[in-house]
Amino acid sequence: MKKSKLGVAGLLLGGALLLALPLSSTAGKLTEKCDSCHGKNGNSTDEKVPTIAGFSAATLEEILHDYQEEERPAERYKPKNGDETDMIEIAKKLSDDQIKEVAKHYSKQKFIPHKQSFDAKLAKKGAKIHDHKCEKCHSDGGSNPEDDAALLAGQWRGYLEHQFQLIKAHKREVPKKMWKKFKKLKDKQMKALIEFYVSQQ
Ligand code: HEC
Ligand code: HEC
Repeated sequence: MKKSKLGVAGLLLGGALLLALPLSSTAGKLTEKCDSCHGKNGNSTDEKVPTIAGFSAATLEEILHDYQEEERPAERYKPKNGDETDMIEIAKKLSDDQIKEVAKHYSKQKFIPHKQSFDAKLAKKGAKIHDHKCEKCHSDGGSNPEDDAALLAGQWRGYLEHQFQLIKAHKREVPKKMWKKFKKLKDKQMKALIEFYVSQQ
């Protein structure tokens, strides 16, 4: 008797869960897919993949639209338990509403800076170059989401190095005012800047 009562309760509970599911399943599934490459709540565990937690929603929306319109190159990547694809393919499948939804989701997650080894002396040099040329738009050392630019402080070294190369080779467009400063950077200065961003943990 007791058993069957529990059974009925279980069924009712199951039914209620099933009814509740459709409300949240699209957002859940979508961010699960993002997390499969970008890590739990957008904090990446692979240096080829950027952490996207804590970026402003406006920045995330803009970046996803850039990929959608192929205004930015996208590296192919295969997550452990998924298919190889890239951000252009992914963004093209998203509706405007879904872009808003995922942007809002990741803007509310906490960016956890990566623990990486770094050269403190070089990082100090980088800090000076940053203050002079980059702080205006990447404030607080590149850690302030209110700038509406990608967060640089505590981002993965491998990802930063790759993006620095793409930007310098003009294979990735950036705001004109940034390009004016960036194009003049020498290799040594780029190394120092990356060291500075990596050092903020
Ligand atoms: C198959 C793996 C994969 C999946 C799935 C994936 N991404 Fe990415 N994403 C990447 C890689 C790799 C990069 C960086 C390199 C590049 O631009 O090609 C990236 C870059 C980004 C960036 C740029 C970050 C920056 O600092 O400029 C954003 C934003 C982003 N992804 C958001 C998302 C969102 C939102 C989803 C889910 C809808 C998603 N990604 C799904 C692999 C993935
Ligand atoms: C006029 C404002 C401005 C200045 C100055 C500026 N940036 Fe940016 N930067 C931006 C904006 C906005 C973005 C995001 C745009 C995008 O994703 O294309 C960005 C993106 C980046 C990215 C890509 C980050 C990612 O996650 O993919 C890097 C790296 C970067 N900036 C480095 C620098 C460095 C280094 C300097 C100084 C030499 C600098 N920026 C100066 C506005 C600026």
